[in-house]
Amino acid sequence: MGELRPRICIFIAPVQVGNTFNNGINWNARQPFPMRNHKALETYLNRYGEQSGLQPDLQQVFRQIRDEFGCRRALYPGCYLHITPSLVFPAVCYVDSLKGITRALADQELLAYIGTRKGYAEDAEITCYEQEYEGFNAEPPASFDLLISLNAGAVSQAAKGFLRPGGLLLANDEHHDARRAFTDPDYRLIGAFEKETLRLATSEEELASCFRLEQGTYITRDMVAADAGRPPSRARFKPAKPEEAYLFRK
Ligand SMILES: C[S@@+](CC[C@H](N)C(=O)[O-])C[C@H]1O[C@@H](n2cnc3c(N)ncnc32)[C@H](O)[C@@H]1O
Repeated sequence: MGELRPRICIFIAPVQVGNTFNNGINWNARQPFPMRNHKALETYLNRYGEQSGLQPDLQQVFRQIRDEFGCRRALYPGCYLHITPSLVFPAVCYVDSLKGITRALADQELLAYIGTRKGYAEDAEITCYEQEYEGFNAEPPASFDLLISLNAGAVSQAAKGFLRPGGLLLANDEHHDARRAFTDPDYRLIGAFEKETLRLATSEEELASCFRLEQGTYITRDMVAADAGRPPSRARFKPAKPEEAYLFRK
């Protein structure tokens, strides 16, 4: 029988000063997420719990990915306290440069929560690194089934090498990372999680509307580059029908 307390490895590397995280994308990725005066589990539930109402509960997104594609080992750069992947995937590696994040991720209450809510029989394997994801090299290349890029900058580019060939990238477009992947020949769009329902759409017809601009053409690399310094709300090139998140195959 699996233990209630997940197996957890913590690695704290010195946080680089003057990091290379720019690419023109820094409006939100570094917003000071709260760490003090809150317990980790409380903070997690307030921000990501089913009742929080702050953002959709992505558990059903992760479940669809697991059930449809059999992913088990996931890498989540820029994770903050979003441990929902560990409720679905048995091995998750979290990377975030926020000071104190590994201590928070190792919080006993949070680990017990994962231990009692996880949807798989084996022990949860949780690995945490407190460091920048650019230049991160502590895990073997091409060793992950799934790369998660949610609201944390250009993860699709910086961490691409960790994804095994045929592995999946889950990305939303808040920091333009989904459109970056869409215009990157190393990735192929294979699914979209619809707004509101979070249903995974995979048909050619449904995917044809993704990243299409009002005028009917598709977003290009040059357009992504031209909008790099702008938050999505002020982007000049906007897909006519944005979805909650997208799935790509490497
Ligand atoms: C806006 S939060 C998003 C957190 C979570 N992914 C979500 O969707 O709620 C961005 C997180 O990414 C982290 N982050 C941003 N740039 C990073 C970098 N270059 N290396 C490591 N972590 C980074 C920040 O510390 C922060 O915790």
